[in-house]
Formats: sequence, structure tokens, C-alpha cells
Amino acid sequence: MRTETPPLIRLEEYRPSDYLIDRVDLDIRLDPHATRIDATLALRPNPAGRAGAPLHLDGDDLRLVSVALDGAALAADAYTATPSGFGLHAPPGQPFSLRLVTEIDPTANTKLMGLYRSNGVYCTQCEADGFRRITYFLDRPDVMAVYTTRIEADRAEAPVLLGNGNLVESGSAGTDRHFAIWHDPHPKPAYLFALVGGRLGQVETRFTTMEGRAVTCAVYVEPGKEDRAGYALDAVIRSMRWDETAFGRPYDLDAFNVVAVSDFNMGAMENKGLNIFNDKYVLASPETATDGDYAAIEAIIAHEYFHNWSGNRVTCRDWFQLCLKEGLTVFRDQEFSSDMRSRPVHRIAEVRSLRARQFPEDAGPLRHPVRPRAYAEINNFYTATVYDKGAEIVRMLRTLIGADAFRAGMDRYFADNDGRAATVEDFLAAFAAVTGRDLSAFARWYERPGTPRLTATMAYDPAASRCTLRFTQSLPGEGGRDTPPLVIPVALGLVGAAGPLSGATCPDVRDGIFVLDRAEAEIVFDGVTEEPVPSLMRDFSAPVRLDLALTDAQRMRLLAQDSDPFNRWQAAQDVALRLILEPDPARAYAFAEALGRFLDSEALSDPAFAALVLALPSEGEAADALLSDVDPDAIHRARFALRAHLGQVLRPRLERLDAALAAADDAAYSPDAASAGRRSLRNAALDLIAAGDPETGASRAADRLARATNMTDRLAALGILALIPGQAREEALAGFAERFADEPLVLDKWFAIQAQIPEPGTLDRIARLKAHPAFTMTNPNRVRAVVGSFAFGNPTQFARADGAGFSLVADTVAALDSANPQVAARLLTAFGSWRRLEKSRAAKAGEMLNRIKAIPGLSRDSADIVARTLG
Ligand code: TRP
Ligand code: ZN
Repeated sequence: MRTETPPLIRLEEYRPSDYLIDRVDLDIRLDPHATRIDATLALRPNPAGRAGAPLHLDGDDLRLVSVALDGAALAADAYTATPSGFGLHAPPGQPFSLRLVTEIDPTANTKLMGLYRSNGVYCTQCEADGFRRITYFLDRPDVMAVYTTRIEADRAEAPVLLGNGNLVESGSAGTDRHFAIWHDPHPKPAYLFALVGGRLGQVETRFTTMEGRAVTCAVYVEPGKEDRAGYALDAVIRSMRWDETAFGRPYDLDAFNVVAVSDFNMGAMENKGLNIFNDKYVLASPETATDGDYAAIEAIIAHEYFHNWSGNRVTCRDWFQLCLKEGLTVFRDQEFSSDMRSRPVHRIAEVRSLRARQFPEDAGPLRHPVRPRAYAEINNFYTATVYDKGAEIVRMLRTLIGADAFRAGMDRYFADNDGRAATVEDFLAAFAAVTGRDLSAFARWYERPGTPRLTATMAYDPAASRCTLRFTQSLPGEGGRDTPPLVIPVALGLVGAAGPLSGATCPDVRDGIFVLDRAEAEIVFDGVTEEPVPSLMRDFSAPVRLDLALTDAQRMRLLAQDSDPFNRWQAAQDVALRLILEPDPARAYAFAEALGRFLDSEALSDPAFAALVLALPSEGEAADALLSDVDPDAIHRARFALRAHLGQVLRPRLERLDAALAAADDAAYSPDAASAGRRSLRNAALDLIAAGDPETGASRAADRLARATNMTDRLAALGILALIPGQAREEALAGFAERFADEPLVLDKWFAIQAQIPEPGTLDRIARLKAHPAFTMTNPNRVRAVVGSFAFGNPTQFARADGAGFSLVADTVAALDSANPQVAARLLTAFGSWRRLEKSRAAKAGEMLNRIKAIPGLSRDSADIVARTLG
């Protein structure tokens, strides 16, 4: 049997549901193997649907126990029930009630979609289409209902029972059992349904909203880990306050609960009033979490909380509109983190992640528009393009219309669409309404896949004190000349020898922005009294690849003199990237000297920024810049050589910085951005020192590891040691494993560091890691830590010339696919850039993809990725 290419669902075929569901009453009796779901659905024909159509309810792996229509049993020929659907042949023409009793086995649910158990805790994941694994339903986001959920369970097994909305009643249900009834007054799509039942500890606090509502906020975790839940709870409160001040959005229930579970397919989920999280994005203590973990927890707590308005109050009409909630909510969480931390440092982090994940996706076979037009499996479209490029589109919109109009447009969007399932058109209409602008050309960003290339050239006429900038935009791979242009906000300025030229003026530039809405344009600056260096795409004002031929010296002027921190960082990255792609000792030395001057003048005033300037572009970024004939070994060697060179030239400065920053070590650990920034610079300095002198590096890193009082320094030191083969490394790794033997989330870091070691021996090491007692294929975090880190974070070994790296990942996909297709399919996306590899590696990757394609019974998730990747 060969896996067929799965059929496509298309945006243009959208039509409203023939039936609507106004209310859902659920009575759920939790049981490890036989959970009973007694669901009563208040249905009615949709005036916008086809009159008299049969009713089809979605199902997935369900067993129907009984069914009744308006209180009466149904004749066997009046309906059809299979595990994957329920059909009512002749539904009443007026409102009616359908009672369906189903039975499911949550313990056997390895897909982690629907109702499942994680470490014995009952929990749910319904987005995108998991609710149909709980009961038969119109499982589509434009069917919104008011839910009342009675949850009953064994009191000892599940003392905590949580649902959506407000708790209305709880009590005992016989000797060993108890119940809780939750009512959510806000109509919602089924994907936002959730329940939790289990033995959990909690921390909680109160928050009073701007409307005066008293909200109890709680974070639930595995008992005994309550002391690691405080940071997440604090992030909840800060998120609530921020959404009020930044967007005027108050919370709308009496309770807001966050639950951490160990087995989770993604990061977290915004279920109404009951966010369920991968525990790695909740649990934090200085001993177990890094500064990066704290930042991620803060961002994801905020992200899920912000969905309450951008996603829940205003939801999506269909899954093609996924970016409507995800792109917008990422934008909102980015703004939150920027306000909580350093805005420029955060912006750089956002762009690094976009370039690492979204640019390659957009340049490969898995590319798709931010609003896809067709999909075979929606779970494969929770992508960097939908999330991160989606957020960039919202950001560009704000840049184009200005912050005040943007806020007014958001208010309008929420007001016009509250309680509705909306589209991208509804979103843009709100901004068109408040600005009076026609945004139809801007809307092309949602439709056009690929990263546009923006080419710029400058001409300077000293006699006329005039500077001319020419811009050309193009979208590679998207046919011919007549594709209409995108609207690209180009934030820009001119930088002279002593800083930005404030006297230069250009009629086409307003508030530092030129809007390029044609294929080509020329703009002229007057009053330019010296030959400037153009600083373009400041703050990364649009998700494009910028081609601007500057000399290293011009770039170093930007690093030293530009007023835009993003472009200062970018200038150093550009020089480094060129040096990785075309090594040149003389230029590398000049670059090191320029970095040295930068460090001398400002490293200590903004350590976090300085650490980013010192961090070279990743091997993946270098590969992405090449576009074809990629040899990961050559990139790796060139990048390591440049690191070593910088480490040697900068050594005295790095030592001084390290010493100056050492004082930070003595203070008690605090995860705040300033403290984290000092740690990051200190660790970046040690990393370069070690690159330049591995022997000294190994002993310093071992020393830092021994003295470390927090996970940030400990892991940084271990990461540095991991790159230096030898006894010290193996001892450090063994010591770490022993110390954290009972901490799965910490062992994930240990797994990940080893899986990324760029040495041939890593394959054997991974075999040993997979045999480690803490490793299990049933936990997605473990699989991602070992195999995901290898596939996405070890370019030389994943793309080994002998194909053994591809094999390792393919074997894992094959072993995981039927148990957890979502996680398997995501691993498979590591093959996304295979055609850009040099020929012999590409051939091996192709072989492997065909091997996976031939697996009998391959999941729709994996079959879809393989088909498109080979496409
Ligand atoms: N909506 C979730 C978010 O905030 C994404 C998500 C969580 C998800 N779990 C999922 C998507 C499972 C698909 C399947 O981004
Ligand atoms: Zn989201």
C-alpha cells in the first residue's frame, strides 16, 4: 500500500454551516479507560445554510453509546454513527436537541489530542480539531456555543476539577466521587473547550480588572512544584494589566486558570479561562530554568492570555484565518515582552527567530501564504509563517498608519467583531474604517508566499548635496513581472561620519518611513552635506531580504554611529555573514578591531545588546543566505574559524569584560532583563575566549560550571564545554546528569546540548541518549530535546554526507508516526531545505523522504509534509 496524497480543503469552498449549536451541556465522568461523555446539544438550522440539509457531526475515534432527539430514542435507520462521524438523515426544521453519549479511553490516547492523561492528570487539547475526539460535534470555529460542563471523577484520583468559565457548583457524588460544574457564558468554538482533572498543587492571587471585576488567578502544577509556579503567576498578572493599558482589554470571567502538564504537543493553549501549558513554559526556579526559559515563560503566558481577546472573544471563521488570531497575538506578546524588557534587544531576538525559522520555510517546498488557500491537515499550518510573518504584517500595518490609528483600528476591530468568528478582511476593514485608507494593496502580504527581496542602491552628488536612493522589489519564484507589488514600509535614515544626518530632507519620507508600493522607486534627499551611509529597514521594518552593497567600513560606521540599534546590530551581522561565506583574514581582523572598539565604548552600558553583537549569524542563517549548493561542513568550519579569530583578537577585552561583570555573579539571582543581559555578555565572552583558546576555555568553563549558582550560567558553561572534545566535557556532562537525574525538564537541556554536538560521534551519543532512563518516545519534550535538537540544531550531523543523520530522524518519524502524528510531522519539517543542499546530500535526503512516503498507513500529518516536501 502506498500513501496517497491527502485531499485538500480549500478556502474558496468555504460555506456556512447548515446548522448551529447555541448551547452545549456536558456531563463528563472521568475514568482512566472508560470516560463517559453525555452531551446535549441545542441545535437549530442556520438561516445562512442550506434548508433541510442532513446533519453531519464530526467525530474521531468515538464510540456512540446512545442517542436521543428531543428526548426520544432514535430509530436505527434515522442516523448513522461511525468512529469518525454522526449523521442525522432528516433533522427537524426548527430548533432541536440532540443528546449523544459517547465513551472514550483517555489512557490510550497517545496523540495528545482530545481528552488524554499526562502523568495521570486528565487534560484536553481541542485545537484545531480535537473536540471531535470527545463527542460528535460541528467541530468548526464558526459554530459558537455556550458551554456548561459537569465534570465528575474519583476524588482521590482527581481532587482538582477545572473547566472553562466560572465554577458554579461542586460537591460529592457518592462515596468516592465528586463533581464540579463550570459555566462559560461566552459563546465559543469547540476548539477552546478544556477540562482538567487530577492531583495538582496551586499558587493563586487576585486581580481586579479596570471594570472592577475581582478575578482569582491560579497556576496549577504537579504537587511539590508550587515553588516553581510563582514566576508564571506573576506573568499572568502583568499580562492582564498590560492588555488593559496597551489595548484597553479587560478580563471577562471570575477565574483565570493555568495548568501545566508534562505531555503536550505544542507550547500552550488558550482555552477559555483555562489555559493548558506544556510544563516547560510554566515551571521555573533559578536552579532549573535559564534566563531564556524565564523570558519564554513570560512571553507564552502573555501570548495565551492575550488570546482571550485576539482569538477567543473574536475568533476565526475558518482555519484559513489562523493568522488572524496567531499573527496578531504574537505581535501582542512581542509588544508586551518589549515593554517588560529591552525593546531593541527583544526586536533583535524576534528577527533572529524569524530568520532562523520563517525565512527558510518561505524559501522551501513548505512555503505557503500567511493565509493559506488550501490545506490537507490543518495541524501542519501552525507554522513560523502563520505566526511570525503574520506578526510582522500586523507590525507593518502599525508602521504604515501610525500608533494612534493602529490603536483606534484595534478598538474598532474588537468592537465590530466581539462574539463573532472573523476573517482577515474583517481585520483590515477595521483599520480601513478608522483611517479612510484603501488597504487592498497591503493585503497582498497575506496572499503572497516567499520572502521579497529589496534591492537598494545609493548615488551621492556632492556638488548638489544630494543623495538618491533607488529601490527595486522582487519576489523570487513568483512568476513574471506583472505580479502586483507589495507595500513595503522602509524605515530609513542617512548616517554621516559623526552620526545621523539630521539636515537631510526628502519629501517621500515621513516620520522616517518611505512606503515602497511600486516595483521600483527613486527618492531624493537634499541637504546632504557629506557622503552618507544609508541605514535601511531600520528596526526591521518589513520581512524582506535587503540587498545593499556596502563596504565593511561603511557597515562599521553604522555599527558605531547609527541611531537605530537594530541596524547597528545588523551591520555587524552583515559583515560577519560575509566573512563566513567568503573567509578573508585581513577583513576578519579589521572586523575584530571594530568590534573591540564597540565593546570598549559601550559593552558595559548595554550588556545584552553587546552580547547580541558578539553572537555570529548561525550556520542555518549562512545556509539560508546561500540558497543553493549548501555544504554544512564548509559553513561550520568557516564560522568556527571566524569565532576563533574573534576570540583571539578580542581576548584582552573579553577578559576585562568578564572580570567587570563577575560582580553580577555575587548578587542573588534575579531573572530581570538587566541581570540576564549581564549574564549573557559574560557567557558570550567566555564562549569566544574558548573558541580562540579551547584549552583555557575548557578550564574556565569547568570552573564556571563548578561555581554556578543558577541554571543560566551552568548551562552556558556546559554548552561551551560540549564543543571541546575531551575528558573535561564527558565529566561535566556526567556530573550534570547525576545532579538533575530527577528533573526531566533539566535533562532535556542536557539531551539537547549533546544532540547538537557537531561531531560524527554524535550519532552514537544519540543512540545512548535514547537508551537513557529519562528518555521516552511518548513524551514530546523528550523527543524534541533529543531528535528535534539534532534535526533542527545540528546541521553538519543531520545532513551528514553518508545520510546517517537523515536516517536517524526518519527512523524516529517512522517509530512515532502512528502514536503521535503531530509531533512526527513536525520533526519531518527538518527536511524542508533538502533541495538546497549540495547534490550528494540532497540525494540522500530525497531517498529518505521517499522511504518515509512508502510507510504503510502513514498519518495524514506526515503524508502531507512528505508530499509537499518532495513536491
Ligand atoms: N493556539 C495555540 C497557540 O497559542 C497553539 C496550539 C497549542 C496548538 N496546542 C496545539 C495547535 C495543538 C495545534 C495543535 O499558539
Ligand atoms: Zn497562539
